[in-house]
Amino acid sequence: MKPTVLVIDDEKTFRIVAEEALASEGFMVTTASSGQAGLVAWQREPSDLVILDRHLPDTDGIAVLEALIREARERNVDTLVVIATAYADVTSAVQALKLGAFDYLSKPLQLPEFVVTVRKAIEAQRLRAQVRQLADRAHAAMGDFVVGASTAMQKVIDMVDKVAEAPDTTVLIQGESGTGKELIADLIARRTRARTNGPFVEINCASVPESLLESELFGHERGAFTDAKTQKRGLFEEADGGTLLLDEVGEMPVATQAKLLKVLEEMNFRRLGGTRDLSVNVRVVAATNKELADEVEKGAFRLDLYHRLDVFHIRVPPLRERREDILPLAGHFLARFATRMRKPANRFAPETERLLLEYDYPGNVRELRNIVERAVILSTQDAIDPECIVISGPSRTGTAATGGFFSVDLDAAGRPPDLEGLERAYIARLLAFANGNRTAVARLLGVSYPTIAKKIADYGLA
Ligand SMILES: Nc1ncnc2c1ncn2[C@@H]1O[C@H](COP(=O)(O)OP(=O)(O)OP(=O)(O)O)[C@@H](O)[C@H]1O
Ligand SMILES: [Mg+2]
Repeated sequence: MKPTVLVIDDEKTFRIVAEEALASEGFMVTTASSGQAGLVAWQREPSDLVILDRHLPDTDGIAVLEALIREARERNVDTLVVIATAYADVTSAVQALKLGAFDYLSKPLQLPEFVVTVRKAIEAQRLRAQVRQLADRAHAAMGDFVVGASTAMQKVIDMVDKVAEAPDTTVLIQGESGTGKELIADLIARRTRARTNGPFVEINCASVPESLLESELFGHERGAFTDAKTQKRGLFEEADGGTLLLDEVGEMPVATQAKLLKVLEEMNFRRLGGTRDLSVNVRVVAATNKELADEVEKGAFRLDLYHRLDVFHIRVPPLRERREDILPLAGHFLARFATRMRKPANRFAPETERLLLEYDYPGNVRELRNIVERAVILSTQDAIDPECIVISGPSRTGTAATGGFFSVDLDAAGRPPDLEGLERAYIARLLAFANGNRTAVARLLGVSYPTIAKKIADYGLA
């Protein structure tokens, strides 16, 4: 397939010269004489490359550039834009590059330079598309990559490898919300060689209404109940030969628990309304963010089922207990989101890393992932600044008692500080946080360096 190039320029001679030069290089060329017409042409048939004039009669070339980049991102297509500017207009060229243009050309056109630039862009476009395809394929084949830098996570992964050798053993995964329980269940399924070719089926016991849970799990025959218009296979049958994840098993109604226990003991069951015994070969993995032992105590979970599930126990520790994982995880999510959103971000500034390390993540890995996703959206450069880190979890407003970032002392008479006292204390805290780096403090507060330097001097914090 020939690479496609769209030339958007109001100048007719430019279009003709560009079209001829590129066609003789073996490219498929289309042209448009205004920004609007160019956008419409691209929307109809996205080209690999767009040569875009900076000065157009109807719209600003920069606005067209922004629209193209946004739409390419939304549609998940790889289009590169090369902007053509008047010879002396370096500022717009720089602006265009910052907004995501791949390169720029200066007008009047120098043909050899033009052709080289286009060839380079097409080559880059081809490589990008290839990398993305390979990454997608690798992802589909291998599942999600599990970051496990800490010794705590290494232990979890060791446990996964051990139980992978016991393909029939039931596993109970316990951990706070967002710690990665589903990911670990998926890893068990993928690493259990005896079951890798079998299906991985999951059900969230908390999100299926009680009345439907049993028919979801065990299926039903036609006419088993009013809504059972047809026969339906249950998830135990779907998972035959593979792995069934019972997520949030702590939320399972007690009646269903009794039935599940029986199935786990015998590995055979009947569909609802059925008369035939079905037998399946399934490894059950159960996950919960509750302490099941406490649930047993409360009478909300059957003791016998608890013992039946808890044959092999894996505890996924909360992120605050394995801080060595914070930066590797953040880096993993950064790479993923930057690729997906086509952003230049590729690292965190040192102050940003410090900020990430400081926080205690009540929402665990999921919260860290969301923080990084927001940061990548807000980022404009290679290095992500601390301003891009928006922490919205409840513990932001925490006090020293709950491990918050900042707290103030009452004075000898039990009074809280006034506004100045508060400011002084807060700046002192930020200075400590930023290792005395005033530029960082200024940036964290969103004020200029002279402002913060003066306050530090006035408050005698130097
Ligand atoms: N070690 C890890 N490496 C890479 N990604 C991870 C890791 N742990 C968790 N994640 C990611 O964090 C997110 C939350 O993980 P997951 O859904 O497995 O948590 P969970 O423990 O099942 O949470 P919940 O109890 O709320 O269902 C997912 O996007 C997951 O891919
Ligand atoms: Mg989950």
